[in-house]
Amino acid sequence: MGLSISLFGLGYVGSVSAACFAHMGHKVTGVDISKAKVEMLDSGRSPIIEARMEELVAEANKSCRLHATTDSIAAVLGSDISFVCVGTPSLRSGKLDLSHVEHVSEEIGAALKQKNMFHTVVLRSTVLPGTTEDLMAPTIEKMSGKRAGVDFAVCYNPEFMREGSAVADFLQPPYTILGSQNAQHLAPLRELYREIPGTTFETTIRVAEMVKYVSNLFHAVKVGFANEVGTLCKHLGVEADQVTKIFMSDTKLNISPAYLSPGFAFGGSCLPKDLRAITHRGKELDLELPLLESLIPSNTKHVERGVEAVLRTGKRKIAMLGLSFKAGTDDLRESPQVQVIKRLLGEGCQVRVWDKDVSLGRLAGSNRQYIEEVIPRIGSLLSAEMAEVLRDAEVVVIGTKIEKSELANLLTPNQKVIDLVNLDPNRRPETASYEGICW
Ligand SMILES: NC(=O)c1ccc[n+]([C@@H]2O[C@H](COP(=O)([O-])OP(=O)(O)OC[C@H]3O[C@@H](n4cnc5c(N)ncnc54)[C@H](O)[C@@H]3O)[C@@H](O)[C@H]2O)c1
Repeated sequence: MGLSISLFGLGYVGSVSAACFAHMGHKVTGVDISKAKVEMLDSGRSPIIEARMEELVAEANKSCRLHATTDSIAAVLGSDISFVCVGTPSLRSGKLDLSHVEHVSEEIGAALKQKNMFHTVVLRSTVLPGTTEDLMAPTIEKMSGKRAGVDFAVCYNPEFMREGSAVADFLQPPYTILGSQNAQHLAPLRELYREIPGTTFETTIRVAEMVKYVSNLFHAVKVGFANEVGTLCKHLGVEADQVTKIFMSDTKLNISPAYLSPGFAFGGSCLPKDLRAITHRGKELDLELPLLESLIPSNTKHVERGVEAVLRTGKRKIAMLGLSFKAGTDDLRESPQVQVIKRLLGEGCQVRVWDKDVSLGRLAGSNRQYIEEVIPRIGSLLSAEMAEVLRDAEVVVIGTKIEKSELANLLTPNQKVIDLVNLDPNRRPETASYEGICW
């Protein structure tokens, strides 16, 4: 026996979801304010042009598993679970227009006022984190006089379909994400997606809402990156297709999770220099490459976030753990940690620095020249003894990968810790005040 589903919004996401749920054996009632879409779906025709939709809608109509109506109350009363797939377009300012989500929530709330059974409401539209819990749930509560989590549940289940292959993407998604306030609320969704392949993540509603945005942001960054790189190649007389093919074959560093965890700014002797060289060449070629040109400013902003996090504590005695741009190296050239120290010194902070890989005596060449130019008195700030650096510190800044045991015994309870590098939770010392800058 399938579930009984009402589904609001018969656009791309809604009509594909309706047809696919019906195809999987559930009883679906589609709801839309557009009479034309309702009439089409209710008579067995697809309201959108999309591969396999005509076939699935006709099949579901024939087996009486798919209906459509403009009567939202009847649809909710006749179902166990409601999906909301209405549009969330941009207003002129770019702000998200949530009026359709709000309106449907009012309608579902009005229907639930008349319903005595528990009901599950699942938002599928793309919405900013907090929308399900701070807009949808309270609106339903206000209209129904019932309580979220007690009389009805709200969940968030983003959709990852692409127009053109929407049915195939629905039936074989990259993953299924189920956001809830209470895992027990997910029982009907687990049942619905039981046969859908791929990993299912059960998480909070806010995480589920955000993953959808992060996915789309990343896709947009990838398209922008590929197009700017291709444009550069074309103007440099290099075969873009060859470059892309070879670049993509590296699944260790390029097409991989590498560099994708929030942490600290990049630095070192390569990335900043190479970005500058490429964007400078772009300018010589009269090319505008806004994405690539934005990367150094973005990185500088991130260093500033680290500095602001320290200054916000109002404390001035700082221990900086880590000086080189990466743990396990003594390369100080363009190290963002060095920039943080320089800024803090400029703000009048007393800074002591520890780095087990950096010994001034051993530094030579451009590396030594760099640090002596940027922080001429680095010699008097640097120590190889972590205990000595931490002794009088009010704020401890973690700027390098560090073992928990190295730090845990030396920290005092009133020291604030700011972790720039996003240490693995197993490596973090337990202390009352521990904060990151982007996690
Ligand atoms: N199009 C995609 O490929 C895609 C993929 C993933 C997620 N999304 C997201 O899913 C949501 C829906 O996108 P879409 O492309 O299907 O939108 P759409 O504009 O194609 O369809 C939205 C439908 O909602 C209907 N609607 C509006 N108010 C209503 C109400 N009060 N009651 C019932 N129906 C109502 C509209 O008449 C329309 O048919 C958006 O948040 C979008 O960002 C879209």
